[in-house]
Amino acid sequence: MDLFEYQAKELFAKHDVPTSAGRVTESADDAKAIAEEIGKPVMVKAQVKTGGRGKAGGVKYAATADDAHTHAGNILGLDIKGHVVKKLLVAEASDIAEEYYISFLLDRSNRTYLAMCSVEGGMEIEEVAATKPDRLAKVPVDAINGVDIATARSIAEQGHLPAEVLDAAAITIAKLWEVFVGEDATLVEVNPLVRTPDDQILALDGKITLDENADFRHPDHEQFVDQDATDPLELKAKQHDLNYVKLDGQVGVIGNGAGLVMSTLDVVAYAGENHGGVKPANFLDIGGGASAEVMAAGLDVILGDSQVKSVFVNVFGGITSCDAVATGIVKALEILGDEANKPLVVRLDGNNVEEGRRILAEANHPLVIQAETMDSGADKAAELANK
Ligand SMILES: Nc1ncnc2c1ncn2[C@@H]1O[C@H](COP(=O)(O)OP(=O)(O)O)[C@@H](O)[C@H]1O
Ligand SMILES: [Mg+2]
Repeated sequence: MDLFEYQAKELFAKHDVPTSAGRVTESADDAKAIAEEIGKPVMVKAQVKTGGRGKAGGVKYAATADDAHTHAGNILGLDIKGHVVKKLLVAEASDIAEEYYISFLLDRSNRTYLAMCSVEGGMEIEEVAATKPDRLAKVPVDAINGVDIATARSIAEQGHLPAEVLDAAAITIAKLWEVFVGEDATLVEVNPLVRTPDDQILALDGKITLDENADFRHPDHEQFVDQDATDPLELKAKQHDLNYVKLDGQVGVIGNGAGLVMSTLDVVAYAGENHGGVKPANFLDIGGGASAEVMAAGLDVILGDSQVKSVFVNVFGGITSCDAVATGIVKALEILGDEANKPLVVRLDGNNVEEGRRILAEANHPLVIQAETMDSGADKAAELANK
């Protein structure tokens, strides 16, 4: 989960990373009130989950509270790279002497963590990496040893930060590592990390990606979920503990086991090439115990997607045998009644397949079509979706 800047800064504050005081709001009037509270010049900052807000006119300096009101009015509703601004952060404007870059991330290809640091902050770091690669330090971080003050100082030094601020920068960098580990993040990025005229080091921007697999350790991260942006179908699936991802196609897909569902997406996309270019509409893994309730919940979510024209149920019976799955499908269709209104291509294989197919054949539901193989099932579902 990617966080907004204001949320990242809440986590910075929790770990004592120095940043500028501020508050988030959704209205221009309130932005003015916050500026009055702060009582100093402020920055009015668009809260959208994309970079380059400054260049797009989403970050403005306001000398007075009235200026803050004006800027807030202009920035709210602004479209920044397809993200419409609904929230603003009004933060104290800091005096900036220099802008640096620092980040911690998961370096998957090298199977370790990586710190990146540069004296050339503020601008897009991809540009620094491309034009002045020697100015961007990439320092592998050992997961066990982590980043103590000495390591943090060395990272800052390799990023060519000036000697006078190395000590202050080291303290902040070590705290950012605490954010990274303590919050189970896969990315913590600060651009710019600024040096003030009196040599303080402040995090003026913040980007954090949290590892959702660690959510169970962080009940407080729940508050960061952006309900506005969550797809309603994904929300519904989550309530049923279903592993569902909405995609942009017409063939609903249900399978058991993430690997099988992934390959089903491929097969459907491939079959779709012969049927007007239809594509899979979603990823949905109903997991091991495909009970009638789980099947009904899964079908309910998929049929709620108005883009869906047909559904392909692809199940390999293992611990849960095919007859249990077939019974689940029949009962699910009973539960859904008239809400089930799109053709369902079912391919069963594996444990007790004969009995499973017999149960489906016997139920003789008008929407259910059985397929012998995964390829023929995908082809049939794609053909039906293209009608
Ligand atoms: N609190 C602040 N005080 C002073 N300048 C700021 C403040 N926040 C941002 N800026 C300036 O605005 C620039 C862009 O803001 P930033 O938060 O980095 O957004 P983005 O990276 O999306 O453009 C920064 O590089 C910095 O120069
Ligand atoms: Mg920035």
